[in-house]
Amino acid sequence: MELIFATGNPHKIKEAQEIAGKGITLISSVETGITEEIPEYGDTLNENALIKAEYVHKRCHKPCFADDTGLEVEALDGKPGVKSARYASEECDSSKNMDKLLNELEGKENRKARFRTVIALIIDNKVNYFEGILDGTIANEASGKEGFGYDPLFIPEGYNKTLAELTAEEKNSISHRAKALSSLTCFLSKEKLISNK
Ligand code: IMP
Repeated sequence: MELIFATGNPHKIKEAQEIAGKGITLISSVETGITEEIPEYGDTLNENALIKAEYVHKRCHKPCFADDTGLEVEALDGKPGVKSARYASEECDSSKNMDKLLNELEGKENRKARFRTVIALIIDNKVNYFEGILDGTIANEASGKEGFGYDPLFIPEGYNKTLAELTAEEKNSISHRAKALSSLTCFLSKEKLISNK
């Protein structure tokens, strides 16, 4: 089956296609002609994922999904959460976001955090949500060059290095986004909308 992914990011499409397998052909919303930035004004990950999926669905009238991810830090009551991209400023600057996070956590013993991805899928005019969580802790300083966003600060549970020190393959095998996408694929398979993974 064909499924539209509300993203203009070719890396996200490639990663998602590898997880989704051969039964699903992912098409980016950009390929369908939606080249403008899709608005994100929700207060929660679920709201944002739904807003983006509905935006695309209204234009294409085809099965589609959108994802939204946040870093939730326990000692900061779940912040930066839905505001992860713009934590320090509207610029979406990863290094400023990481500096702010380290400042906010200064002197705090509890460094527990998690990445949480929510996917909203619209199919047959019904909405289904899928979630993926990666637990870990926030390091005292950034290390590693791989990945993006908060990867240099995030040490996944069971590891002694940050996500930015893992290969893309290693990260994809444990990531929040991969878990949410796997749940989506399982759902489509159970609903008999795809025959293989
Ligand atoms: P998005 O919803 O995928 O655009 O993610 C929102 C923000 O969360 C990004 O701009 C990053 O700052 C952060 N983020 C999302 N996923 C990851 C990840 O896998 N590693 C590090 N940071 C991430």
